[in-house]
Amino acid sequence: MSAEPGRRAERLLPNEEAAVTGQEAVLAEANRVRRAVLQPRGLDERRILLVGGAGYIGCELTAQLLDAGYQVRTVDLLIYGHGVAVTGFLRNPHYEFRRLDLVATETLSSALDDVTDVVLLAGLVGDPITKAYPRAAEAINVDGMRRLLDHLNGHRLNKVIFISTCSNYGLIPDGSAADEEFELRPLSPYAVAKVAIEDHLLEIKEEIDYHPVILRFATAFGLSPRMRFDLTVSEFTREMFVGRELLVFDAETWRPYCHVRDFGRLVQQVLEAPLEIVDGEVFNAGDDVNNYTKQMIVDQLRLRLPHAPVRFQEHGSDPRNYRVSFAKVRERLHFESELTVPDGIDELLTALEAGLFGDVDARRSFYGNYEIEYP
Ligand SMILES: NC(=O)c1ccc[n+]([C@@H]2O[C@H](COP(=O)([O-])OP(=O)(O)OC[C@H]3O[C@@H](n4cnc5c(N)ncnc54)[C@H](O)[C@@H]3O)[C@@H](O)[C@H]2O)c1
Repeated sequence: MSAEPGRRAERLLPNEEAAVTGQEAVLAEANRVRRAVLQPRGLDERRILLVGGAGYIGCELTAQLLDAGYQVRTVDLLIYGHGVAVTGFLRNPHYEFRRLDLVATETLSSALDDVTDVVLLAGLVGDPITKAYPRAAEAINVDGMRRLLDHLNGHRLNKVIFISTCSNYGLIPDGSAADEEFELRPLSPYAVAKVAIEDHLLEIKEEIDYHPVILRFATAFGLSPRMRFDLTVSEFTREMFVGRELLVFDAETWRPYCHVRDFGRLVQQVLEAPLEIVDGEVFNAGDDVNNYTKQMIVDQLRLRLPHAPVRFQEHGSDPRNYRVSFAKVRERLHFESELTVPDGIDELLTALEAGLFGDVDARRSFYGNYEIEYP
């Protein structure tokens, strides 16, 4: 399917019958969860544990799940000093926060009380931070996460969703779009760790009592209580907004993008999807309509900021170049992004024009994954 920027390609929407079947299937799944998960444990409702739920994507997911009526418990070590991002949730009686290190698996046990499902978002996220802190990255992203997956076994959990990344595809030289079967070529310690954890989860699949699901997220954009300006769309938008010369490396390289609110919706959909559709499955998470080159993002920004200076350079240090197929998530879960990259640019420009992010240069680590305090 062609992905013209900002415009959704003509698509076959699920027909009415399929949609009804979908609704029935979701109801049947809710009944299964009541019978097989809640009643045997004497619980009234689902409680979702978000490990790393105070981060950029985790905050939006929290808002989405609370809106949908779920109980949410977040454990997070707040490694960027960003606790303020969750203060808005604290007054909600369905929300709880605990500051814990996922590496200390034993101390996490109490956080599992009455939890039915887990979403694993925590870690050192992105190539630069894993390269800057290789020991912490290995301890958290690889050893800690692997131990945690093992530890979750035996707690009578329902679904455990591991958030992975489309960066696992690395470099696709011929321009084809990677589906979930595509060869993984992780090019950084960050992606190598994600592939190692995916492999581990698929290896232990038959031995564990929970239902694992792997979501390979596209690169995120959009506003969130924990804002990140070290990601392409937000970085480009802010740099061009403030009028500093934007240096763009390898403008023709492709990457898929997805709005944080769409990620939130998708995770909720996976939590509610019939087991036979998601159990043990890997999904690329995003939408073909948001496959963009850096040049296409700059073109969108130039429509809005025609005088912003931009310089292009070849042979940057990041060789990643991948287009991704989101056919599986669209066909099996009927998931489509509601927000495009231009929507995200407009949303962020409105916030910048309102003066919301005048302190980004002064508080670099707060707004991006650059520096951590970790033992
Ligand atoms: N942001 C993206 O573009 C993107 C793209 C693909 C995949 N992902 C995945 O989505 C997930 C969330 O990404 P994000 O952008 O929200 O990142 P983020 O850095 O904003 O959030 C990560 C969170 O994990 C927490 N954390 C780190 N180490 C911890 C530890 N030892 N114990 C407990 N908490 C710890 C951090 O404090 C932070 O709140 C990650 O798994 C990431 O790999 C993100």
